[in-house]
Parts: sequence; structure tokens; C-alpha cells
Amino acid sequence: MQNKKHSLDTWNKYGKYVFMTHNFNDNLIHKAKGTIITDTDNNEILDFSSGQFCSILGHNHPELIKNIKKQINKVLHTGSAFLTLPVLKAACKVAKITPGNLEKVIFLSTGTEANECAFRIAKKFTEKSGIAGFDEGYSGNSSTMQSISSNLSQTDKRKREKIKNKQTILTPHCLKCPVNKTYPGCDFLCLKESEKNVGKGWKNIAAIIVEPILSQGGIIMPPKGYMQALQKLAKKYKVLLIVDEAQTGFGRTGKWFGIEHHSIVPDILVFSKTAGGGYPVSGIVTTEKIARKTILDGFVNISSHQFDPLQGISVESVIDIIKNKKLIGRSRNRGAYLEKKLIELKNKHSIILDVRGIGLMLGFEIKDNSKNIYSLNSIGNKLKYECMKNGLYLNYGASTGTVFRMYPPITVTKKEIEKAISILDKSLTTISKRRYSKKILLPKNPYSRLKIRKSMRERLGF
Ligand SMILES: Cc1ncc(COP(=O)(O)O)c(C=O)c1O
Repeated sequence: MQNKKHSLDTWNKYGKYVFMTHNFNDNLIHKAKGTIITDTDNNEILDFSSGQFCSILGHNHPELIKNIKKQINKVLHTGSAFLTLPVLKAACKVAKITPGNLEKVIFLSTGTEANECAFRIAKKFTEKSGIAGFDEGYSGNSSTMQSISSNLSQTDKRKREKIKNKQTILTPHCLKCPVNKTYPGCDFLCLKESEKNVGKGWKNIAAIIVEPILSQGGIIMPPKGYMQALQKLAKKYKVLLIVDEAQTGFGRTGKWFGIEHHSIVPDILVFSKTAGGGYPVSGIVTTEKIARKTILDGFVNISSHQFDPLQGISVESVIDIIKNKKLIGRSRNRGAYLEKKLIELKNKHSIILDVRGIGLMLGFEIKDNSKNIYSLNSIGNKLKYECMKNGLYLNYGASTGTVFRMYPPITVTKKEIEKAISILDKSLTTISKRRYSKKILLPKNPYSRLKIRKSMRERLGF
């Protein structure tokens, strides 16, 4: 059992000043290195979520931190009127690692902001105003992006933001086919149905925004050939195809970008999360043709921190470190090892229904018949609780089932994988035997407790 005295004393002292946007864990994080985060009571926790799926090189990678510190000593912020050398070098490096003729880069701060920017470019380019995305996708938390997101706390899709000219495309989730067919004989009927459903609506759509491998939706890999068919459809209706690589970029899937698994070049590639290795940076990269036309048509994008020097230095460092340490290959190798270990667990624990993913974007779906998979008593929450108690932080989600994501940094060691698997094994055994009272499962800090008690439908922290 973890000692949480210092963390809880601090919660009690300062917690009342926190606007509880969601339920936080009791543990206050004091430091982090590699795959391990340490709380103020010195509990060490294996973080298999890489922070918010951002710290692709592990927490506080020494070379990244050294370069950021050096840059801070020179200039922290320039404003919209100036560029710096790290920004120019980072743009060049992004252009070189992204597929095909993508070469014009904008740096921004968050994934949502970058998707919004990509969408604005698409609107300008196509002179249309609508948006489409997968019904199980996730694109961010602005009104527009929420409208095409099967959101974390919005498992009830009726709560989606309603905006004009928004369309959804059936998610190609072959394991739970939305049109009850089997791949490859299906001939992508889900896409054909979506095309038909949108119908005349296509004439208003400027952009289709999709993840190349859906993460929050439940680690869903569109089958071979699907993305090519989607691109064909986009071209038919003169819609730009925007690929959101928030979670799949910078080596996570065993390639630089998830879209490379589908062998297509999108019109705009959006990056965020992993791009800064934990530093908040996002951006878009598009073609010369799209950049030129939109600029000539008067496209302007100004936000306070776009092209900031620290964004440049962090992206440049992440690319250099991945290249120099050959981390893409490592993501593939470690991924194969973690997948093998997860399959062994599946063979042992019948509660695991499926193991899936690619590279180090892996996970497993469990049998959970709870009405609300985020409720205190759900199997998912119990497993999350047991893992955390034993020193492994895992995250789960998906509106199509309870899917745990295991996305450790691509620097993860074999030993850390073995430790995580052993904790998971022990936790799966425990939850199959133990009875839990609600009191045990509730966080100990009074503010998260209150939030959960007030809204049991709310998702349990991440
Ligand atoms: C695929 C995808 N797109 C966009 C976002 C939004 O990014 P941010 O939270 O940085 O705005 C996320 C965040 O989880 C994401 O997973």
C-alpha cells in the first residue's frame, strides 16, 4: 500500500483553490525521469501513459532538458513578428520526416489549436465550411473539434457539440463492424454507407479530420486499403484530408507517423503531444500548393505563442534524439516484446478479450458489462485502481468497450515492460477474487471524492 501522507496533507491545504475540471489522483508528482514518476511521498510509479501520451522520449529526457535550458537562457519568447534559428531548423526537420510533398510548417501549442488551424486552412482552400470525422474519433475540446469527437466524458453522444455542416463517418472498427460485414469481403461498405448518409452534405464539407489509428476510440487501426478509399472519396468531393497525428506521431507506432502504415500522403498532417517530448508544441505541415493558394487568398494565423523558440528547440531535439538513438526501431522491437507479453496475459486471463495496436501504441480490451465503464464499480476502474496501488499507471477509455492503453515512452526498457506486465498480471488476478467497497475505490483527497460523488457518471481521473 502506498503511503500518501504528504500528498494528502498538501491536497487538504491547497485543494480548495483548484477548479476540479476532472478527478485527479491523490499522488502529487514531485519528479519524473524516463518511465518513472515519483510522488511527494517517494512512491515510484511506472507511467505507461507517457504523461498525457506526450513524453515520447520518457519524462525529462536529459538532452531535451539541456537544450531547452540553453534556449531559455537566450530567448524565451519572441512574439509573432520574429522567427528564430531553432524554429527554422525545426520546420526543415519536420518537412524532412513527414511523408511526400508535405513541407510548409506552422508551430502552435496544443492539439486542438492545431486541428482548428488545419480546419481553417481547409475552409480557405476549398471555400466551404463543414467538417467530417470518425464517429469514434477524438480531435480536441474546442466546440468544432468536440462536434466530431466521441469525447472522454461524453460517452453519451447526444451531448456532442452541435455545429452547422458537421458530418460523421462510420469508424472502420472491423472487430465490431458498424455494418456487420467482414473485411476484406466488405469492400468498405462502412465508407460507402457514410458517403450515402452524408449525401448532398458533401458539397459543404471542407475537411475530413481523422486519426490514422484511433486512440481514444479504442486503438482502432483502419484496415489496409481503407485510408486510400477515404482519400479517394475526399478527392471526389473536393474535401481536404487532414490526418491528426497527436498520438501516433514521432515514432509511437514504429514509424515516424501513423499515416505511413497506410501509404498515403494527406493534404495536411497535424502533430502535437509527442512532438515536444513533454513540452507543449503542436503544428501543421502541408503542401506548397495549399500554403500558396491560402496565403494568396488572405489566410492569416496569429496566436501569441506560435513559432515560439522553445517550440522550435523541443521539436528539433525530439527529432534529433529519435534519429541519433535509433528509437523508431526500438519502438518496433519493444512494441513486439510488449505485445507478446500481453498475448501471454490474454491466454491466462479470460477477462482480456483482445490485444491490439502497433509499435508501442498497444492495448487490450477487457470484458466489462458495467452500464457505465467509468463508474466506480466498473471492472476497468477496479483494474486501474489495483495497478496504481501496485505502482503502474494505466489509462483506459473508448465508447465501444473498455480498452486499456499501454503507451510507454519509446525509451522504455525490457525490465520496465516485465515489471508492468507482472503488476498487471497480479492486478488481474486480484480483481477476479476481491470484493471492493465504494469507499476503497474512492480517491482519498476530498476534492476528487466530492467530484465523483456528485457525478458518478464522470470519468475517473487521468
Ligand atoms: C488524436 C487527438 N487529437 C487532438 C487532441 C487534443 O490535443 P490537446 O489536448 O493538446 O488540445 C488529442 C488529445 O488527447 C488527441 O488524442
